[in-house]
Amino acid sequence: MMSGVHLDGVSKTFGSRTAVRRLDLTVGDGEFFSLLGPSGCGKTSTLRMIAGFDAPTSGRIRIGANDVTFLPPHRRDVNTVFQSYALFEHLDVFGNVAFGLKRRGAPRKEIIQRVGRMLELVGLLGEARARPHTLSGGQKQRVALARALVNRPSVLLLDEPLSALDLQLRQRMRLELKEIQREVGCTFVFVTHDQDEALALSDRLAVLRAGTLAQTGTPEDIYERPADAFVAGFIGVSNVMAGRYAGGRLTLPGGLSFPVPGRPGLGEGARVSASVRPEKIRLGDFEPGMVRVRGTVRESVYGGASTTYLVEVAPGVELSVLEQNADRSRREKRWSGGESVELGWRPEHCLLLDGDA
Ligand SMILES: Nc1ncnc2c1ncn2[C@@H]1O[C@H](COP(=O)(O)OP(=O)(O)O)[C@@H](O)[C@H]1O
Ligand SMILES: [Mg+2]
Repeated sequence: MMSGVHLDGVSKTFGSRTAVRRLDLTVGDGEFFSLLGPSGCGKTSTLRMIAGFDAPTSGRIRIGANDVTFLPPHRRDVNTVFQSYALFEHLDVFGNVAFGLKRRGAPRKEIIQRVGRMLELVGLLGEARARPHTLSGGQKQRVALARALVNRPSVLLLDEPLSALDLQLRQRMRLELKEIQREVGCTFVFVTHDQDEALALSDRLAVLRAGTLAQTGTPEDIYERPADAFVAGFIGVSNVMAGRYAGGRLTLPGGLSFPVPGRPGLGEGARVSASVRPEKIRLGDFEPGMVRVRGTVRESVYGGASTTYLVEVAPGVELSVLEQNADRSRREKRWSGGESVELGWRPEHCLLLDGDA
């Protein structure tokens, strides 16, 4: 059965506050799709409307071929996993996962089979008789996931399901979540404010800003070709340099000037921002054709696999530069504070952006 999710001009207002504004989204069947954006941008409101906990103020929602805009949650082929797992404390792990099937009167044999299969999938077969309070945070989250997936929804909605976990566990659960999604093949709509999580997990994602859609695309689209300064700034370090465009060059207020790629409709003297990602900037090993500017190292931060340098290229404009530490065998900094350095980047790695970060 086709089970994509379609939002068509969906808006949600609470009194005078608009949480979601004319949102158009299409999530493909079987896709891992993320809604990404800062706190308060309307992610949960959007998810609640897809789940059926809230009705849109205007617009339509379809799941597969069905218009579900005003259907109650239990009449939709969806399940939701929240950040707070909300497990039943009086039931053991098996009982928690079996709950939905029991309520629907599924035969005992089928319940045992399906719950067993789910517990295996989330790696909790050995914990079937454990009570929730004896489990770790990661195990609880897996029970919540199994409890939702056992109903075989065609769409699973997840609202920041990993945000209560510590960093290491979160990163491991990410991989597991992706594996589980591949295995069950159901459509995932995943809400997060964590850009790394969204980039790592999603087939495609939507970046929301104040209730409106800023950009949709694959992780590569969003990272390499951000639609505007907001998206560039929200996804990774954007190194935004604001100035004026003239004669194929960007000139910053302090006088620094360098060539930038042109863009249709860009007039002489226009105010624009340019952005170069930290890993695209080199401090040496330049190639022919690279844009080269001079700067002063203000700080260097050792990060194990890489070192980040903050380099001031104009008064008040610092660029973050990421160097892999592959060629260095021990903790040793190539540059220290106050040193004058040359920076280089390939012209195509410089993006011209509209708007403010
Ligand atoms: N039930 C509600 N009543 C009033 N305002 C709400 C309600 N739910 C959400 N909002 C507001 O809508 C906006 C979006 O909220 P939300 O969807 O929870 O954002 P996110 O999940 O991205 O953090 C916020 O300004 C929030 O205060
Ligand atoms: Mg939320």
